[in-house]
Amino acid sequence: MNGRVLIIAGSDSGGGAGIQADLKTVTALNGFAMTALTALTAQNTLGVHAIHDVPEDFITQQIEVVLADLGADAIKIGMLHRASVIHAVADVLQRLAPDTPLVLDPVMMAKGGHALLEPDAMTAMKERLIPMAALVTPNVPEAEALTGLKISSVEDFPKVAKAIGAKAVLVKGGHMDGDVLTDVLWQAGDVQRFEGPRIDTPHTHGTGCTLASAIACGLAQGLDMAAAVERGRAYVLQAIKTAPGYGQGHGPLNHAHTFSK
Ligand SMILES: Nc1ncnc2c1ncn2[C@@H]1O[C@H](COP(=O)(O)OP(=O)(O)OP(=O)(O)O)[C@@H](O)[C@H]1O
Ligand SMILES: [Mg+2]
Repeated sequence: MNGRVLIIAGSDSGGGAGIQADLKTVTALNGFAMTALTALTAQNTLGVHAIHDVPEDFITQQIEVVLADLGADAIKIGMLHRASVIHAVADVLQRLAPDTPLVLDPVMMAKGGHALLEPDAMTAMKERLIPMAALVTPNVPEAEALTGLKISSVEDFPKVAKAIGAKAVLVKGGHMDGDVLTDVLWQAGDVQRFEGPRIDTPHTHGTGCTLASAIACGLAQGLDMAAAVERGRAYVLQAIKTAPGYGQGHGPLNHAHTFSK
């Protein structure tokens, strides 16, 4: 086992996304996962039924005690929900882990359409967290919301990625159409396309959380950014292909596929 990953995100009681997906992913990729919970959701494959917030000072305390004792080689941020939480997380990371690579998944909406980011939190995310991130991983609606630009095809991904204003951005093509699914990695002007088959399935709950955690784990294990993205995409693809088919809505992935080899 190698690579310590601190995950700062919300809980998905359904086990398919959020902290649960993050823990499973990092474990399946042979890393060591630690967590700071930001919110609890009562959630299943049909949607988010309720959200219970974790107080800011307790989020900060989870991060402080973990970093002070165990340390982290990479940090992944998922659902943060409120502006006050974003400020608290940015403050503690600036203080205790300014040089640890940070993967920021700018989660705004659950797959079922439930808003997971309050409106004023968007500004806080742009001002505080995006500048700190080693990588930001928006899907298409998130990339549009962060920039005010419209995406009509994959050709638009690089300019939108650049406009986000981070060191590196992976614009994910899950929300586009077509048999080929393309993600674009933009790194300080350097553009790399990753293409793969689009699987026709309802079982894609947590793909975004899973990919971001897989990339964070790769960085923690010393992979460079492109290699971490490549391995992360392959891991997600296999997890979709072997999804167990649980639930009546957007079903979860098979995070454990690496164990059956
Ligand atoms: N149908 C699919 N077939 C193959 N790969 C997929 C499919 N859907 C998603 N992926 C993979 O998962 C990654 C993330 O997908 P997506 O763009 O849907 O992110 P997201 O919208 O943030 O997901 P989430 O709703 O879980 O937050 C994609 O980059 C791609 O690699
Ligand atoms: Mg997402």
